[in-house]
Amino acid sequence: MKRPRLLLTRKIPTPTYYVAALNGEFNDWAIDEEECLLYKGQWRKKVFKANKKATLDLELGTGTGTHFAHYAQNNPDHCVIGIERKYKPLIQTIRRAVNAGCTNARGVRYHADFISDIFAKEELDNVFIHFPDPWVKKRKAKNRLIQPEFLEELYEMQKSGAFLEFKTDDKNYYKEALARFKKSKYKMIDYTEDLHNSPWAVGNVITQFERIFLNQDIKINYVLMMKE
Ligand SMILES: C[S@@+](CC[C@H](N)C(=O)[O-])C[C@H]1O[C@@H](n2cnc3c(N)ncnc32)[C@H](O)[C@@H]1O
Repeated sequence: MKRPRLLLTRKIPTPTYYVAALNGEFNDWAIDEEECLLYKGQWRKKVFKANKKATLDLELGTGTGTHFAHYAQNNPDHCVIGIERKYKPLIQTIRRAVNAGCTNARGVRYHADFISDIFAKEELDNVFIHFPDPWVKKRKAKNRLIQPEFLEELYEMQKSGAFLEFKTDDKNYYKEALARFKKSKYKMIDYTEDLHNSPWAVGNVITQFERIFLNQDIKINYVLMMKE
């Protein structure tokens, strides 16, 4: 089985503020790469103390958490998990949600490629993937998150009726991902190469990276899918 290459938090010899905050200041809101393995199939009950019908949404690669905190704040009856592999953005994400008064949000340090380690079949509702690392060099493209096997696994982890939302500034990644989405089991709802001149602009939350690209007049590619 493939394993994520993540240094264990407890083994980091000289923790920075952000490393220490994960199991310190933000212990109630952030979950490390070892603890999260204990909750597979039980996130609603064990982590959120929610009933088994509660909506459980996931954002992969939250960055500083602009969308994550906004979404959690505006959906107080949903349980919302954000996955980040880097400590600083993870803590920034969860701090933003806590400062917004959210009690329904948790940040998890894990590697997005391996989320089947931590979520069971049909455990998740909606999933957001906004501006994943584009790995622009050709020989590095294999590191992109959107791979056929990943989509198969993610599809199995979502409930029927749940959405998968994808945004990227990178045209090559968009084209590759769109072809993979179309070949996957997801039902395509819509896609556009110019989100901000489409009907999907209404209600769209501009993320930190999205703002950077918009300021450079780069068009945002958008895909919305559903598990039937
Ligand atoms: C380009 S940023 C986008 C951040 C945010 N979604 C936004 O739109 O502003 C990508 C983020 O994904 C995180 N990331 C990249 N690969 C990841 C992985 N395999 N697992 C978890 N997080 C990852 C990076 O640390 C970074 O914070």
